Amino acid sequence: MGTDLNSLPSLVFLIIAVSCLFCHPTRANPTFLLRECEPENTTSPTNATYQANLKILLSLLESNSTTPNGFYNLSTGSEAPNIVYGLFLCRGDVSTDICQDCIAAGRQNLLKHCPKKEVGIVYYDECLLRYSNEYIFSTVTYDTSFVMRNVLNVSQSGFEQAVAETMNQTAAQAARGSEKKFATKKAKLTQINETLYTLAQCTPDLSSADCGNCLQTSINSLQLESKGSRVLGPSCGVRFELYPFYFEALVPPPTRPTSGEHRISTALVAILVPIAVSALFYTVFPQPF
Ligand SMILES: *[C@@H]1O[C@H](CO)[C@@H](O)[C@H](O)[C@H]1NC(C)=O
Ligand SMILES: *[C@@H]1O[C@H](CO)[C@@H](O)[C@H](O)[C@H]1NC(C)=O
Ligand SMILES: *[C@@H]1O[C@H](CO)[C@@H](O)[C@H](O)[C@H]1NC(C)=O
Ligand SMILES: *[C@@H]1O[C@H](CO)[C@@H](O)[C@H](O)[C@H]1NC(C)=O
Ligand SMILES: *[C@@H]1O[C@H](CO)[C@@H](O)[C@H](O)[C@H]1NC(C)=O
Ligand SMILES: *[C@@H]1O[C@H](CO)[C@@H](O)[C@H](O)[C@H]1NC(C)=O
Ligand SMILES: *[C@@H]1O[C@H](CO)[C@@H](O)[C@H](O)[C@H]1NC(C)=O
Repeated sequence: MGTDLNSLPSLVFLIIAVSCLFCHPTRANPTFLLRECEPENTTSPTNATYQANLKILLSLLESNSTTPNGFYNLSTGSEAPNIVYGLFLCRGDVSTDICQDCIAAGRQNLLKHCPKKEVGIVYYDECLLRYSNEYIFSTVTYDTSFVMRNVLNVSQSGFEQAVAETMNQTAAQAARGSEKKFATKKAKLTQINETLYTLAQCTPDLSSADCGNCLQTSINSLQLESKGSRVLGPSCGVRFELYPFYFEALVPPPTRPTSGEHRISTALVAILVPIAVSALFYTVFPQPF
């Protein structure tokens, strides 16, 4: 009789593994995608005043990176040509913690690689951070130069059509948003027995019309035959995959122009359920790390 000591290590491992199922999304490093700074090759850097204003701008943007809608725009400097305009946008489903980490990483990246440029932008999976010597607020910039795709294609007929349709609906919903211009959708593709996940987002300072046009331009550059593809630009981005790539639990309820009551109850459920669920897990499984 007695406890089988050999099973103890695996029991400890099991407890850690199970409790970690309920770990919060960890504050992992944001995933860097691309940086663009201009002019690309120059021997005459910007004025020192501009560079100082840029540093202040990036620091103020970082300190404002907990805004509830994941967006902030700001300018520093009072006299042209040394005014710097800047903004950031976090993906609509990321927490303020992740947003903050991402903007902090973006600031370091731009300070390191393009502290003397006129314009700069850095993209991560979780956010984008941008500055310019020209006014960029409430202004759409069409730029679909960044396209990513899964190398594998789906050959099933009707796949591209289904992706385009779902992307269109996602884009329309995102463009209708106000505080956030962000939407995700999930569609069951019965022919290939897969679930399609889509995402569309604009900076919320754009008009609905500009946002819609920007998203449509981006959708036109998606590789629809691929198993997954995304297009990113300074004003908007779109993406689809056959797996969930966003935090489904953190997606805000869609903006519905009518039926205010439904909206409130959906919002309440969206807020209360996660609170109740996390309270439960905290009680049962106090976080070990
Ligand atoms: C900048 O320099 C790189 C490497 O020297 C070159 O490949 C690139 O074409 C240049 N870009 C421009 C805009 O001149
Ligand atoms: C930067 O530009 C401003 C206005 O053009 C000028 O007054 C100032 O002397 C310049 N500063 C430096 C350090 O070049
Ligand atoms: C956010 O930016 C504003 C300028 O727009 C600045 O005055 C303020 O101090 C910043 N917020 C924080 C928390 O630093
Ligand atoms: C953000 O941009 C708007 C114009 O879209 C402007 O009115 C506002 O002053 C800007 N915010 C800050 C903090 O500069
Ligand atoms: C997928 O489709 C693209 C575009 O039609 C083609 O260039 C690529 O070679 C295809 N990839 C595979 C793995 O078949
Ligand atoms: C998506 O919307 C665009 C623009 O409105 C339209 O041209 C296209 O046919 C639509 N695609 C699908 C599959 O509905
Ligand atoms: C569809 O996928 C699910 C989960 O991947 C699997 O359990 C199921 O057997 C599949 N159905 C068909 C008809 O292939």
